[in-house]
Amino acid sequence: MLVLGIESSCDETAAAIINNGKICSNVIASQITVHSKYGGVVPEIASRKHIEAIYVVLKQALNDANVTLEEIEGIAVTRGPGLVGSLLIGLSTAKALAYALDIPFVGVNHIEGHIAAAFLTENVPSFPFVALVVSGGHTNIYLVNNYHNFQLLGQTRDDAAGEAFDKGANLLNLGYPGGVVIDKIAKSGNPQKIAFPRAMKDSTDFSFSGLKTSLLTMLKKLNRNLNAEELPDIAASYQEAIVDVLMEKTIKAAEDNNVSRIVVCGGVAANSRLREKFERETSLRNIGLFIPPVILCTDNAAMIAAIGEIMLKDGRSDTLDLNAVSRWPLGA
Ligand code: KG4
Ligand code: ZN
Repeated sequence: MLVLGIESSCDETAAAIINNGKICSNVIASQITVHSKYGGVVPEIASRKHIEAIYVVLKQALNDANVTLEEIEGIAVTRGPGLVGSLLIGLSTAKALAYALDIPFVGVNHIEGHIAAAFLTENVPSFPFVALVVSGGHTNIYLVNNYHNFQLLGQTRDDAAGEAFDKGANLLNLGYPGGVVIDKIAKSGNPQKIAFPRAMKDSTDFSFSGLKTSLLTMLKKLNRNLNAEELPDIAASYQEAIVDVLMEKTIKAAEDNNVSRIVVCGGVAANSRLREKFERETSLRNIGLFIPPVILCTDNAAMIAAIGEIMLKDGRSDTLDLNAVSRWPLGA
């Protein structure tokens, strides 16, 4: 089935076309440069930028896939969670196209989309598996029993892991979004140099706000500019504290539930240290690890089309009165 996916939940306008689980095109227009000067995503600006980009992105996705709009058989669009003003641009576009082309469309949960990125790779995980969804807005562990059955095993009580990266980078004056920058700088640092706290050791839930405070306290005590040798060690140690808890809790969740497959997805799954540590630890324990390529970890529309195609093939579709939702917990 030739499915068009549309994603506009935050600061990426994306369109993709997939055919029977295979990516034909995957176009992403990022607004990062616009928001970076404000130190975070400005919702009103995001909505306006989505309006500017959506047509161009759609056209590019059709061109890259070498298909015409008339050939599209169904549309999958992110319905939530996310910024409502941003979501509405993608959702309205999807509804208008579905109406004009007289084809079905389905509203997709963004978190479900992140997990579905794992279905777009060569090595597809079979059910059940444990999924760690780590992004700028979410840090959730799920037991995934089938395409539509998610059991929430743990979640963050405060900041998401991506937020912890971004807030840490902000304290270190590294710009926004900070995950990629910390990842890069940390490569030349010593991750054992500073013992940042690992919170909620005995819980399945996460907490990252104490980590950020601990970095702030350390910088305040230092009360001077960091020198060139100090920054990589701080970045590496801070990153290690985030990666350690993500890894330990996910592996424990898999073992406690007798599951031998782990999917890691969402923007933070692009982190090189996280990928390296998960690979090492899961192979030692004979657990199958499924982390999509970086381009499918950060926000994209191929992942939305992937789960959308499965839903549409199941005969599921939505009506034109479907609204966007800012909150849409999965399996809670
Ligand atoms: O999934 P995503 O693109 O958007 C949301 O749904 O939130 O995730 C964005 C988050 C940001 O917080 C960003 O700093 C983080 O993913 N991120 C990274 C890396 N690349 C993106 N965090 C750590 N290391 C990276 N390499
Ligand atoms: Zn996302």
